[in-house]
Amino acid sequence: MKTIFSGIQPSGSVTLGNYIGAMKQFVDLQHDYNSYFCIVDQHAITVPQDRLRLRKNIRSLAALYLAVGLDPNKATLFIQSEVPAHAQAGWMLQCVSYIGELERMTQFKDKSAGKEAVAAGLLTYPPLMAGDILLYSTDLVPVGEDQKQHLELTRDIAERFNKKYNDIFTIPEVKIPKSGARIMSLADPKKKMSKSDPNQKAFITLLDEPKAIEKKIKSSVTDSEGVVRYDKENKPGISNLLTIYSIFEGVSIEELENRYEGKNYGTFKAELAEVIIESLKPIQDRYYELLESEELDKILDDGAERANRVASKMLKKMENAMGLGRKRR
Ligand code: TYM
Repeated sequence: MKTIFSGIQPSGSVTLGNYIGAMKQFVDLQHDYNSYFCIVDQHAITVPQDRLRLRKNIRSLAALYLAVGLDPNKATLFIQSEVPAHAQAGWMLQCVSYIGELERMTQFKDKSAGKEAVAAGLLTYPPLMAGDILLYSTDLVPVGEDQKQHLELTRDIAERFNKKYNDIFTIPEVKIPKSGARIMSLADPKKKMSKSDPNQKAFITLLDEPKAIEKKIKSSVTDSEGVVRYDKENKPGISNLLTIYSIFEGVSIEELENRYEGKNYGTFKAELAEVIIESLKPIQDRYYELLESEELDKILDDGAERANRVASKMLKKMENAMGLGRKRR
C-alpha cells in the first residue's frame, strides 16, 4: 500500500480553504493509503505564538481532524513535536539545503516582507517540512496549491541527499485537488483565503456560528454584473463562491449556473450560506464532543507511538548515510 503524509499548522482557526484544499482530500484518501496526518506545531513557532493559545490550537486541530471524518483506525494522527525525529531530520536536511533556494520560497518572502526581525526558522521551514515527509517514505502529499513550491523543494532535497549519501528516500509526488486547490479570500478574491488574515471577514472557519457565516458570505466581495457565472479572471468573487458551493453540495458549477440563472446575488449568497451551515453542523457537533473526551488524548498517544516507530527507523538510516554517531551492531 502506498503512503500519504500531510500536515496542518495549529496557528489559528481552520478555514474553508484548509478544509477544501487539504482535509477533505485526507478523508477521501485514508481508505486507499497508509496515511499519516500531522499537527505541525514546530512549523507554527516560526512566527510568534502565544503559548496557551498554541496549546489550545493543537488540541482543537486534532479534534477537527477527527470531526471532519479522519478515522484513527485507518490513519495515524499525531503531533510533530511528540516525534523528535522530525526536528532531527529537519536539521540534517538543512545541511543539504541551500540558503538561495530557501530564500526563493514565496511563503518565506510573504511572511518576512517588511519585518525587521525574521526568525531563522522561517527560512529553514522547508527542510523541516521535507523531514516530515521523507521520514515516512511518503509516496503522495495531498496539499493545497500554495504548498506546491515546498513540495518541489522537498523533491530536490531528497534527490540531492540520495545522490550525495545513500539512496534511502522515496521521492514524493504532490497531490493537489482538481477543484478548490486555492480558495480565495472573501474580502479580496484576488488573495488566498488565509487563517492569519487580520480581516475576520476574509475567511470562514469550520467553527464559525451560523450567524457569522451568513454575515461573511453576505458581505463577500463580488462584482456589479449581477449574473451568477464562473469567470475566474473577471469575476473572481462569484467564481470563488461557486467553487465553494459546488464542493459543499457535490454538484457541478454548470448545474449551479443553471440553477441561479436570472436570480440575484442575494438569493445565491443566502442559499450558499445555508449549505455551508448545514454541512458544518455535524462537524461542529462532533468537534465539541471530542474536545471534552479522553478519546482524543488516547488517539494522539497512539498516533505518536506509531509515528515514532516508523520515523526513528528512517532517522537511523539518515544518520548512517551521513556518518553521524557511532556504528552500531
Ligand atoms: P497550512 O497550515 O498553511 O495549510 C494546511 C493545508 O491547507 C491548504 N490551504 C489551502 N487550500 C486551498 N485554499 C486555501 N486558501 C488554502 N489555505 C491553505 C494548504 O495548502 C495545506 O495543504 N507547510 C504546510 C504544513 C506542513 C506540511 C508538511 C504539509 C508542514 N509539513 C508536510 C504537507 C506535508 C502549511 O503551512 O500548511
